[in-house]
Amino acid sequence: MPLCIYLAPDKKFRGRVLRRSNFHTSHCYDPMSGTPVFVMNTAPERQSGRKAQISNITAAKTVADVIRTCLGPKSMLKMILDPMGGILLTNDGNAILREIDVAHPAAKNMIELSRTQDEECGDGTTSVIVLAASILASSLSQLERDIHPVVIISAYNKALREALGIIDRVAIPVNVNDDEQMLGIVKGALGTKFVSRWSELMCKLALDAVHIVAQNSQLTSPESQATSTFSSTTPTIDIKRYARVEKIPGGSIEDSRVIRGIMLNKDITHPGMRRRIQNPRIVLLDCPLEYKKGESQTNMEFSKAGDWARAQEVEEEVVKAMVETICQVGCDLVLTEKGISDLAQHHFLKHNVSCIRRVRKSDNNRIALAVGATIVNRVEDLRESDVGTGCEEMRVDKIGDEYFAILAPCTSPRACTILLRGPSKDILNEVDRNLQDAMSVARNVIMDPRLVPGGGAIEMAVGVGLAQAAKRGTVKPSQGKEGTKENIITGVETGPFLAVAEAMEVIPRTLVQNAGGNAIRVLTELRAKHTSSMSTFGVNGDTGKIVDMKEYGLWESASVKVQILKTAVEAARMLLRVDDVVQAVRKERESGGGAPMPEEMMEAQ
Ligand SMILES: Nc1ncnc2c1ncn2[C@@H]1O[C@H](COP(=O)(O)OP(=O)(O)OP(=O)(O)O)[C@@H](O)[C@H]1O
Ligand SMILES: [Mg+2]
Repeated sequence: MPLCIYLAPDKKFRGRVLRRSNFHTSHCYDPMSGTPVFVMNTAPERQSGRKAQISNITAAKTVADVIRTCLGPKSMLKMILDPMGGILLTNDGNAILREIDVAHPAAKNMIELSRTQDEECGDGTTSVIVLAASILASSLSQLERDIHPVVIISAYNKALREALGIIDRVAIPVNVNDDEQMLGIVKGALGTKFVSRWSELMCKLALDAVHIVAQNSQLTSPESQATSTFSSTTPTIDIKRYARVEKIPGGSIEDSRVIRGIMLNKDITHPGMRRRIQNPRIVLLDCPLEYKKGESQTNMEFSKAGDWARAQEVEEEVVKAMVETICQVGCDLVLTEKGISDLAQHHFLKHNVSCIRRVRKSDNNRIALAVGATIVNRVEDLRESDVGTGCEEMRVDKIGDEYFAILAPCTSPRACTILLRGPSKDILNEVDRNLQDAMSVARNVIMDPRLVPGGGAIEMAVGVGLAQAAKRGTVKPSQGKEGTKENIITGVETGPFLAVAEAMEVIPRTLVQNAGGNAIRVLTELRAKHTSSMSTFGVNGDTGKIVDMKEYGLWESASVKVQILKTAVEAARMLLRVDDVVQAVRKERESGGGAPMPEEMMEAQ
């Protein structure tokens, strides 16, 4: 580990020993002797000042260029080969970016944005990258005009506040119980996806699943209250946990369906047990149903010949007693997260009880929710009230090549399984991703029932609104303080403010370009419409022409758009604040391995 002594003229640091695995080029002069003192390693992996900013912006633009063609209904798919030889076929922004191996730190940062968007909203992962890159690109001209990044950032803050105000003004409320309206929204989101051919079916699947899971959330369970940081009135719809997608290659996509209950990739443990039970009484355990052996080496000493046999008998009796205790509550089906010994299976069979072993913890939780059972972790603690009776039928079916236990339909499921069928694994994976998007959209609308016009209409409305604010010289006051410094756009901030307005147009422009239209003509016309307060006009992504979204019927969740804006502006603000890129760990470049350095990436463009 290199050790350096910092001999800076600054008294504060003089004589301090700085220890770090690897420092990079930087030196200062010893005031006494005038000789340079090297503080960091003299490696070339460092960029500072304007060069670093330009490099970051170029990297961000490069990332956006990769997925620009994936926006909108006429989007292209990307085929990505992973190092293991598998292929990924998708047009989902996040799915593409997370597979790409990038070296530039700013590019990595951009990819993080898309991941955040995916986790937060599940949709808009392409838009956020395209928008962030566009905002950054437009800040380049501001930097070239020698406007300090701090001024640009302050203008961006004001622009974001104004933009959120515009979204609030344009947004319209939606009735989340109106299935037709909800289907329309989910359809809009799925229209840009591979599954758009089956969009009717997929929308229904997504909406059914979210409705089933949403029932669960309205119940303010003590558990959800304890874990939720929000007020108890905020519903949290945990699709990831309670709506499981089971993908089985084979059949056709039309065979996909939502199971109002649980489906497990498990068979019963003994062939003699019942494979079909009406109104089963279900017991859920998370303990092993076998004789518990000593944890470490166990020695037993016997003095009489019969003692060995007795010891064996005792083991058997323990298992038998365990099974008897369980069967006393009158059950038909026992599921445990651990193992079930052959002997226990034998006794269960005698009591005509079916069992399934080694169920995943997450599956067990979902079953508990769906059938109304409680998971018990000691057989002795099992009570009548722990038995689940909310399931009408349990059956084991052979689908494709495998056996599946299906517990459905349930009276009030609150958790569900979506069975996806399709021609191949790759296609099923893409259908799964699309379905997740659709479910996220439905969830977002239920959580925040406000809609904004799609097809670039809201982005154009924000762009035009920002331009008008720049002309006025004021933005929407925060917390009612009018006329204060935060609400006035100063002369020097006007440029960056307008740059955000211009950057917003990237979404309608890309939609027109992807549809093969004439971007300049359409955008000029669209801008004119918005200037005369027709804020629902946008681009028809199929034809590249202007349409009124009220007639076209493309509405999107406002929460997704708000999140896109916030994330994109935040990312731009952060990257602009960087004026030095220093690499902390030097790669072994001599060995020929390692990823290219930022400069190489720049040159390669
Ligand atoms: N039929 C359509 N006509 C015009 N624009 C559309 C249409 N369908 C969707 N859009 C627009 O396309 C954009 C969304 O595109 P897309 O779904 O490909 O990307 P994303 O939502 O940003 O990312 P992802 O879905 O990959 O997470 C939105 O701005 C939406 O308004
Ligand atoms: Mg989308």
